[in-house]
Amino acid sequence: MSDIKSIIFRDNKFKELSKHYGEKYQIEVSDKPGHNNFVLIDDNTKLFHKGSFITNSFNYGPFLNRIKNFEREHQLKKAISYKSIKPKRILDATAGLGHDAFMFALLGQSVTCIERNKGILILFEEALRMLPKETYYKNAKRRIEIINKDASEYTHNPQGHDLVYIDPMFEVSKKLRRNKSLSFINSYLGKEDDVTADFVKKNSFRRIVVKRPKNFKDFAFKESFVVSGSSVDFKVLVNS
Ligand SMILES: C[S@@+](CC[C@H](N)C(=O)[O-])C[C@H]1O[C@@H](n2cnc3c(N)ncnc32)[C@H](O)[C@@H]1O
Repeated sequence: MSDIKSIIFRDNKFKELSKHYGEKYQIEVSDKPGHNNFVLIDDNTKLFHKGSFITNSFNYGPFLNRIKNFEREHQLKKAISYKSIKPKRILDATAGLGHDAFMFALLGQSVTCIERNKGILILFEEALRMLPKETYYKNAKRRIEIINKDASEYTHNPQGHDLVYIDPMFEVSKKLRRNKSLSFINSYLGKEDDVTADFVKKNSFRRIVVKRPKNFKDFAFKESFVVSGSSVDFKVLVNS
């Protein structure tokens, strides 16, 4: 897995924020152009890799549509056994840009987000920072805890979470390669291992939910049931 080597700011108004991330993630901060992989902090923070970049905004684009329709996340809700009166405590072991985690938070669930890649994690934090200052969003943000760690090293307290949610990277198909953001992340992260088998082996969660591409041949585990979506499946293992 590759990661960023520096945090860059061009406008002095982002100096303090850049230093904050630099100290938090132990990454060099500079106002000069960066190495191959770096994050540029501004009003629309960018993750650079090999000359191209991605952003991660929750305020516009296709993800805003998902946010507006969060109550229609029927498959996700089914997979976690959502009950509005009894919110779940979810461990999101592969938080990425935080899209699924933010859906959980909007649905009233509390989420511990584990992500090992610092560049990706800063994009997630920046998306939360740039949200409108409305109570509705503030409440969702309060339900999110972010931890920079490899999920396989995370020491889990069995009383702490009701379920673990895993969305590992998968090789993008030719069709999906047209999706700029997915192709970028695939190239930036490089070949990724799949932490699913680790969680299955530990057997410390009552429920394990794994997001998989359709028709994925799973060797990591045998699910109890599948919740089928239009482009992905949620494989659910319920431990008795
Ligand atoms: C497909 S993305 C997750 C997308 C996320 N569900 C979302 O909605 O934005 C997978 C992410 O898992 C992270 N990841 C993979 N293995 C991990 C591990 N063992 N521990 C922590 N993070 C991991 C990768 O760095 C990547 O950002």
